[in-house]
Amino acid sequence: MRPVSMLQMWTALTTMLLLLAAAVAAATGATTHGGCLPSCGGVDIPYPFGIGPGCFREGFEVECINSGPVLAGTPLRVVQLTLDPDESQVMLPIGWQCYNVSDPDDTYKWDYGNTTMNKDGVYRISNTHNMLVVVGCNTVGYVASKRTEGGADANAFNTGCMSYCNNSASAQDGLCDGVGCCHVSIPPGLTDNYFNFREYDHSTMMEYSPCDYAFLVDRNNYTFRRSDLKMNTKRTSPVWLDWAIRGNSSISGDIPSCKQASKTDQYACVSTHSDCVDSTNGPGYNCKCSSGYQGDAYLPNGCTNINECANPAKYSCYGVCSDIEGGYKCDCPAGYQSRYPRTERCTQKFPLAAQISVGAIGGILVLAFLAFFFVLRKEKQRARDFYRKNGGLTLEKARTIKIYTRGDLKPVLKSTNVIGKGGFGEVYKGVVDGVIVAVKKPNGRSVLEKEQFPNEVTILSQVSHKNIVRLLGCCLEVDNPMLVYEFISKGSLEDNLHRADNKELLDLDVRLCILEDSAHGLAYMHSQTHNTILHGDVKPANILLDENFSPKIADFGISRLIAQGKDHTRNIIGDMSYMDPVYLQTGRLTDKSDVYSFGVVILELISRKRATHSDNNSLVRSFLECHQTGESMTELFDKEIATTGDLELLNKLVQIAVECLNLEADQRPSMTDVAGRLVTLHRSRNP
Ligand SMILES: *[C@@H]1O[C@H](CO)[C@@H](O)[C@H](O)[C@H]1NC(C)=O
Ligand SMILES: *[C@@H]1O[C@H](CO)[C@@H](O)[C@H](O)[C@H]1NC(C)=O
Ligand SMILES: *[C@@H]1O[C@H](CO)[C@@H](O)[C@H](O)[C@H]1NC(C)=O
Ligand SMILES: *[C@@H]1O[C@H](CO)[C@@H](O)[C@H](O)[C@H]1NC(C)=O
Ligand SMILES: *[C@@H]1O[C@H](CO)[C@@H](O)[C@H](O)[C@H]1NC(C)=O
Repeated sequence: MRPVSMLQMWTALTTMLLLLAAAVAAATGATTHGGCLPSCGGVDIPYPFGIGPGCFREGFEVECINSGPVLAGTPLRVVQLTLDPDESQVMLPIGWQCYNVSDPDDTYKWDYGNTTMNKDGVYRISNTHNMLVVVGCNTVGYVASKRTEGGADANAFNTGCMSYCNNSASAQDGLCDGVGCCHVSIPPGLTDNYFNFREYDHSTMMEYSPCDYAFLVDRNNYTFRRSDLKMNTKRTSPVWLDWAIRGNSSISGDIPSCKQASKTDQYACVSTHSDCVDSTNGPGYNCKCSSGYQGDAYLPNGCTNINECANPAKYSCYGVCSDIEGGYKCDCPAGYQSRYPRTERCTQKFPLAAQISVGAIGGILVLAFLAFFFVLRKEKQRARDFYRKNGGLTLEKARTIKIYTRGDLKPVLKSTNVIGKGGFGEVYKGVVDGVIVAVKKPNGRSVLEKEQFPNEVTILSQVSHKNIVRLLGCCLEVDNPMLVYEFISKGSLEDNLHRADNKELLDLDVRLCILEDSAHGLAYMHSQTHNTILHGDVKPANILLDENFSPKIADFGISRLIAQGKDHTRNIIGDMSYMDPVYLQTGRLTDKSDVYSFGVVILELISRKRATHSDNNSLVRSFLECHQTGESMTELFDKEIATTGDLELLNKLVQIAVECLNLEADQRPSMTDVAGRLVTLHRSRNP
């Protein structure tokens, strides 16, 4: 009893499991394909095909019989079933007819290979993969399909070929071209496997060809053998079928194409990332996963992303492959490039030649930069050297004078700012630190006494007298130090006396004041400072006038500074027209040299005539001659002041001048004397 109960239990258990599976299938719905047999006899059964209830779309049922799949309701074995391409390969029966040996004029047995595989209209016989083969001697075989209303052969398709044999030896193995065997292409649209033949007298060939055969077959899967003239009538042949969602033929106008189907709830392409494709063989459509996806487009979420990078054979990439949704990225590694990294090798972005040239250019740039840097440094070094050479450190310590950098003065040193030019150099007018200044820039090679310069400049900078142009500072970063003075508005006495265009009316009082104050300035420099500072180049051009015609003597000591560097005796700097002949002879500049020059200035001021050296000093000589002979000098005086009747005062001025011009330097009065006498003269005029 016990084994029996065991068997019962086992049966119950399996029944329960089957029920459970069915319930799961029902609950999850047909489309999930859950719980359905995925394959049968080694053949994959993808949805919409399926085995068992709920596992297939209507019309796509497959049965698993004797460990092999067959199209439901038929004995037709399925060899292969694929979604992409949408094909299935099945074994179809062949059509044949055989002749009666005793009556070879007539067939007595036949089978036209009719199948009922297409009752739902899912399949079309693939015209691209299959061909019709007719085997037999003296026969015409054809495939008939799509029966239409009409006569005996009323089919939409009737296509076939003829085979003939001269004798038993005519048919050749491997040849299927009309002798014992013929083949022909078939049109698209065939729905049925059904053949027919014309009957011919077989009496002479019953020995070797008692039957005629016709069958559809994979184009690549049939080779004629002469033995096939007597082939087994049970034979089947592999045929490719195109399948599609073709709608329900019992409902007229039902979903024949993508466009219409996509609007219905019967639409089969339910997966995301799926596309609909119209059938190329018959009406209807198929579903495919979109590019970059794979799987079953007929199932929800059936299409999944392809990891292309895992399949480089199919998805080529010469660079770095990275998978993305619906595709993959293929980029060349850093430093490499390719127009199409998927199909063309990545090459180095910069080939060696380019690298070398880039390197070379880079190197040159670096060198150029270094050179520039070096030049800059050198320039700075030069500036520092000049600075030191010109006594910058000494001046720095003295702290009495401003030391300008080249940058400070650069805006001033423009050709449009030039206000004067001379043997010394150029004078620029400009604004530095908010003050209007005159910058004196010496030209040519310097003759300055390097050690002496800072001391002298320091002394000059300490001088503060209302009749001496104030030295504000200097710039030492150049070979020839530039000097920065306060700017005096009305220009030089020379300009005011002799300017052709706009002669200033200078009355005697103004001229007296100019002489008196200039003398004070010179006297101060000669005696009031503990260092005697000589001018060396006293002349109207070096006496500047401010807005009140108050004189300020410029360039104090500069001529001497410049002269000192050179040979003491023979390098005379200064205007020859005002130059002390004693200084010219001895080369020794003394305070009396300035006195001599001042004498010439007096004569020039009262005559308003230029003292010129080139005409043999005629101005000085004229006065001296008149003074010696006692002739009237009225002619020599400037008319402007001579008419006022101050001839006596003018004569006294000439007297002072003549004393200044004494060729015996010792006999000349000192500047202090001159200044004193001028003051007295001035007072006598305006008591
Ligand atoms: C076609 O429609 C009929 C009636 O609606 C139905 O019974 C049949 O199963 C359908 N066939 C297919 C292949 O959908
Ligand atoms: C073959 O033909 C002969 C003569 O007509 C007939 O008697 C015989 O029955 C036929 N054989 C078959 C199998 O039909
Ligand atoms: C093939 O068989 C089916 C079903 O038996 C039948 O309806 C159809 O008419 C047949 N076709 C031909 C051409 O005999
Ligand atoms: C055709 O068959 C006849 C008789 O068997 C033979 O004599 C002849 O040579 C054959 N012709 C060809 C071209 O094979
Ligand atoms: C022809 O088809 C049969 C059945 O599918 C298969 O076994 C055979 O390998 C095929 N031959 C060729 C040459 O494809």
